[in-house]
Amino acid sequence: MKKFFSVADVDNLSTIVKEALALKAAPNAHRKLGEHKMLGLVFLNPSLRTRLSTQKAAINLGMDVMVMNMDKDGWALETRDGVVMDGTTVEHIREAAAVMGEYCDVLGLRSFPGLKDRKEDYSEDLFNKFSTYCKKPLVSLESATRHPLQSLTDLITILEHTPSTSKEVDGKFSTVTAKPKVVLTWAPHVKALPQAVPNSFSEWMCKAQEQGLLDFTITHPEGYELDEHFTNGATITTNQNEALKNADFVYVKNWSSYQEYGKILVTGREWMPTPEKLKVTNHAKVMHCLPVRRDLELSSALLDGPDSLVIQEAGNRVWAAQVVLKRILENL
Ligand code: CP
Repeated sequence: MKKFFSVADVDNLSTIVKEALALKAAPNAHRKLGEHKMLGLVFLNPSLRTRLSTQKAAINLGMDVMVMNMDKDGWALETRDGVVMDGTTVEHIREAAAVMGEYCDVLGLRSFPGLKDRKEDYSEDLFNKFSTYCKKPLVSLESATRHPLQSLTDLITILEHTPSTSKEVDGKFSTVTAKPKVVLTWAPHVKALPQAVPNSFSEWMCKAQEQGLLDFTITHPEGYELDEHFTNGATITTNQNEALKNADFVYVKNWSSYQEYGKILVTGREWMPTPEKLKVTNHAKVMHCLPVRRDLELSSALLDGPDSLVIQEAGNRVWAAQVVLKRILENL
């Protein structure tokens, strides 16, 4: 692997999930691989899980890690080309990224969208420039349009919690894994949030569906359609109750409108998943990438209930980061 920006950087999803779960079973098995290698994690926005899980993954592989909170501690970055820097920006991304590339063997970058200019956000200009100028393998720690480490984590968690049964054919036993129904449901929020997590989740689930691993449905209120580029192959409905019927996994997430870019179109609690709403599911496991606003986005009863996977899911962030870093280190 030379970079990790989207599901396009992974061929076989079942294989990478198995590799991640093998790392979970033996976290220190590849401690020599990252010896004398430096990982730089660059954050332009806050983070708890991505920051700590990626550091832990790197340490498990024997790497050293440096973290730069660019938004608080770095110089104000200029990303435009051909401008006279006589305003508030102090350092151009050309030099900043190149210098960090001098210090690190692998880099990670988090950069959220502005949610003002869709064309600009969806061009991923900052990420692409950083990748070009740092000249080192770059891992997305969440970009304007995608959060691939989260989505890989989500797939690991879904397949890990999908039951297998033994089946006898002609006197021989084989393991059969059921194909789970996975539902992504929009949920309310008071802030306008990016589409990165649902875009990315959808992109990964659509590919997993193509590879025969699961069935994927998206439900959201009218006006919250995601960019079709990410949802190709999914069943999409504005009827949440219909979507939830027989679901095995319910992935809860808010996002702001893509059509009326960055706007909140629906308020109120009507779309918040509750135990009552999930009665139509197949005792569905409940997932959320976190952080979550309790009793706004998702009911406390579900979060604290026996079917919640949110903590296990966050725990699996380590194995997603570790398998990605391992594959990149193997290619250095
Ligand atoms: N889910 C996730 O990316 O969490 P953080 O924003 O805390 O890293």
